[in-house]
Amino acid sequence: MGLAANGSVRVEWVVAVSVAAGAAAVGYLAYKKFFSKDKCCSGMVNLHIQKDNPKVVHAFDMEDLGDKAVYCRCWRSKKFPLCDGSHTKHNDETGDNVGPLIIKKKDS
Ligand code: FES
Repeated sequence: MGLAANGSVRVEWVVAVSVAAGAAAVGYLAYKKFFSKDKCCSGMVNLHIQKDNPKVVHAFDMEDLGDKAVYCRCWRSKKFPLCDGSHTKHNDETGDNVGPLIIKKKDS
């Protein structure tokens, strides 16, 4: 095989590898766009709490709240639905700004 033929084969390989890499990139992006589960779960608020329930609901009687009750709104508390301060770590890690709902009796 001559030098010119060797160079021609090399060019064909470069073209083939480039086309294959481009096709793989397009396929990967199409997969992420249409089939990836990341898309469906990235907006999910509740990551861990009572995932076997279709809807997480808590109810309390006003008379049982006492002078002050602090409820979690970040869904990261280990004491959910009560706030345990986990929102601070969540905010530090994500840049979010969530905090608890505080219900208290008026100062008399
Ligand atoms: S732990 Fe969730 S708001 Fe505090």
